[in-house]
Amino acid sequence: MKKVCIIGTGYVGLVTGACLAEMKDRVICVDSDAEKVKMLKRGKVPIYEPGLDEIIIRNFKAGRLSFTTSIAEGVKSSEIIFIAVSTPPKQDGTADLSSVAIVARAVAENMDGYRLIVDKSTVPVKTGEKVAETIKRYNKKNVDFDIASNPEFLREGSAVDDTMHPDRIVIGVSSKRAAKILRELYAPLKAPIIETDIKSAEIIKHASNSFLALKISFANALAQMCELAGANIMEVIAGMGLDKRIGRAFLNAGIGYGGSCFPKDVAAFIKIAEELGYDFELLRIVEKINREQRVRFVKKIEETLWIVKDKTIGILGLAFKPNTDDMRSAPSLDIIAQLQHEGAAVKVYDPQAMAVARKLLKGVRFCKNPYEVAQGSDALVVVTEWDEFKNLNLARVRKIMNHPIIIDGRNIFDPATMEEKGFIYKSVGR
Ligand code: UDX
Repeated sequence: MKKVCIIGTGYVGLVTGACLAEMKDRVICVDSDAEKVKMLKRGKVPIYEPGLDEIIIRNFKAGRLSFTTSIAEGVKSSEIIFIAVSTPPKQDGTADLSSVAIVARAVAENMDGYRLIVDKSTVPVKTGEKVAETIKRYNKKNVDFDIASNPEFLREGSAVDDTMHPDRIVIGVSSKRAAKILRELYAPLKAPIIETDIKSAEIIKHASNSFLALKISFANALAQMCELAGANIMEVIAGMGLDKRIGRAFLNAGIGYGGSCFPKDVAAFIKIAEELGYDFELLRIVEKINREQRVRFVKKIEETLWIVKDKTIGILGLAFKPNTDDMRSAPSLDIIAQLQHEGAAVKVYDPQAMAVARKLLKGVRFCKNPYEVAQGSDALVVVTEWDEFKNLNLARVRKIMNHPIIIDGRNIFDPATMEEKGFIYKSVGR
């Protein structure tokens, strides 16, 4: 059993804290947002993540998981301090590390014995050095400490499962003591542990997300070629993906990547490289392909409908991907804005993201289900590949639409079947 303090109860901090408590560690989660802490104490979980509520409630009741606004309380009673505060992008794409700096200082001022300070937030390489300098400066009692980097690879929608069953655990350390503590902490997960120096660990996080974004942009570029050549992207990636060196994952063409991580992390990595004196041109092209993919998709809608003005367009899916209510950098936002700009009336539905969408979208009609969206629409546009849409009663949809047009940004239907069912069906790269 380890005594752990997690500072920052966003996606990463809250899931990590809950999962460590589930592994029988004693965890104190700290957040400066008093409202959020109050909510969590009442068992109300501020994010939608399968399985998370149960773990939080169970471990809270068992006394292994607690919540506070006080960094002092967390630091005084824990050996391992995770920094998991947000590092949002600044205007120029670099990460804003001011929260990390504030937390590092507060941790240092409250240390009364050895502490291991672990950075879990996604940060640029060399942040560990800066955190170490800060801790040294405010370490009034001059106690021993170590710094480590332990990047997080969880995905939204499967965050608990990803944390409990990771492909690998990366620990960037500079002392045997720190390595031993982190190896013991993660031993129950029985996952491969990669031990590196701190800077390498910091780079692994940005490099992994950038490489996955690169795979997606590669598939989207190929989809463009397939359309021009009259080939089928689904068959091309199936053929490529079986090569073990390539792998089938993250080769789905569509309307490009969104979410809170990929766009931010690719932009940040380009900047980090630039500051180090390297022009990571390859990643700039990855971004460009991703941007263009949304623009091309809207063009496809326009070409299919000819005139968009005064048409009713139904949008299926708003979240940036299925199984989440997150709409940060969601392609749906750009696509809807463009269609509205051209004078279309827009109806929308998403199985989880409606509450979030109501705050972000103006002038659209929010529907209770996919059929209400289809009713009287001139076209349906699939933006997020929720299972609910894959299992639609298409005969019913066809009957209630004004025109049987479906433009599918996620390739969830089979073109031949759609034609058979009487739809004008457009998808990506086929
Ligand atoms: C990602 C990383 O996967 C995770 O390891 C990291 O910790 C945080 O960033 P997440 O943002 O939750 O996780 O989403 P992910 O499932 O990776 O999808 C990212 C985006 O890529 C989505 O917009 C998704 O639609 C898109 N995508 C994914 C594709 O367009 N094609 C694919 O083949 C896969």
